[in-house]
Amino acid sequence: MAAMPMPTPRSLLLLLLLATPFLLLPHAASASAPTSNPDIDLEYLIKNAGLDDAPAATATDDPEDGAPNFPDLDADYEDDEEDLFGDDDGPEESSHSHPSAADEAHVLLLTAANFTAILGARRHVMVEFYAPWCGHCRALAPHYAAAASALAADGVDVALAKVDATEEHELAQAHGVQGYPTLLFFIDGVPRDYAGERTKDAIVAWISKKLGPAVQNLAAVGEAEKVVTGDDVAVLAFLDHLSGAHSDELAAASRLEDTVSFYQTTSPDVAKLFHIDPEAKRPSVVLLKKEEEKLTVFDGEFRASAIAEFVSANKIPLITTLTQETGPAIFDNPIKKQILLFAVAKESSKFLPIIKETAKSFKGKLLFVFVERDNEEVGEPVANYFGITGNETTVLAYTGNEDAKKFFLSSMLAI
Ligand SMILES: *[C@@H]1O[C@H](CO)[C@@H](O)[C@H](O)[C@H]1NC(C)=O
Ligand SMILES: *[C@@H]1O[C@H](CO)[C@@H](O)[C@H](O)[C@H]1NC(C)=O
Repeated sequence: MAAMPMPTPRSLLLLLLLATPFLLLPHAASASAPTSNPDIDLEYLIKNAGLDDAPAATATDDPEDGAPNFPDLDADYEDDEEDLFGDDDGPEESSHSHPSAADEAHVLLLTAANFTAILGARRHVMVEFYAPWCGHCRALAPHYAAAASALAADGVDVALAKVDATEEHELAQAHGVQGYPTLLFFIDGVPRDYAGERTKDAIVAWISKKLGPAVQNLAAVGEAEKVVTGDDVAVLAFLDHLSGAHSDELAAASRLEDTVSFYQTTSPDVAKLFHIDPEAKRPSVVLLKKEEEKLTVFDGEFRASAIAEFVSANKIPLITTLTQETGPAIFDNPIKKQILLFAVAKESSKFLPIIKETAKSFKGKLLFVFVERDNEEVGEPVANYFGITGNETTVLAYTGNEDAKKFFLSSMLAI
């Protein structure tokens, strides 16, 4: 770290962000060139990156993944049975490994003939609509199977099932399936989308949250310690009573939130463990993250919607790296204004600390998103979406899909 240019990039960026009037006066900043196709929804683009014919999709090593712009469920893809269902994959295929039949012991295969009967018999069913040729489906398969086994081992009342949408066109169409994999979670036959991460842990956590009690009681310090060290993000309410109006609001807030576990306590010692002053007024709510910027204190009105919004806005890290998995948390966030940092991976260590510093000042107001410029699956298509070419580090303010105004702050960041 020799001579840094003056002023330091950090102060410069802060200044820029503070001075940038885009929050109030979008026209005052210089708008970017329109993207080549302003009608494409960015969220859609990310969700389906690598699946459709996005420019950066690298179909060469896995040709059957190059599915055309969404399915045409009748498409007649070349069968490649050996590759898809053959014995253990070689090392180069490891990320697409297809689990052996034994691994899938707890995943039900459903067809049109028995779909309705199974959905009628089970209160909670997750259904994956997949296509045998789809690489993301194959990547998901071991996670899905492991989630099914783990939930079964824990005695959770849920069935994980899959439907081959290339065989069951009508079933897929009836459920509005537009891409693979599509994961739906049925409670008493009523579906909702699963848009979380496609990993075993995320699926298990999400289902457990849906089926578990909305709020768990923490009475003992020992239990509370487990939560503090174990959960990535947790919400604790410090209450006068474990039931009643405040507890009900908290429970309602929890049901609005998909991933974070909610706890309540009346114990000052437990509150202290969560960095709540034991003398604090009740009800108090904090959100605790394992990340460095650990604690966020709720200071709104004690209502379910306000609490849920607070959790949703603060649960994500100071800077989120944009991937297909983090996409939903970014785009479903109540905070719509984003600062996007585009940088090639090897440059990121230079810029992320600066952005992180800045992000602290805008917590709860702006989302800071790191786009790995040279990531072929997501980074490149998103950069193309914004018309960013070359590999210079670029910072962009984005106000969301609704008005799609975007503004570069770029050249200032070049160190
Ligand atoms: C549903 O039917 C298919 C086709 O007959 C069968 O392979 C599958 O095991 C059945 N699923 C269940 C859960 O019974
Ligand atoms: C991208 O970066 C490399 C060095 O990392 C450089 O050689 C190349 O010219 C850059 N390309 C563009 C388009 O800026």
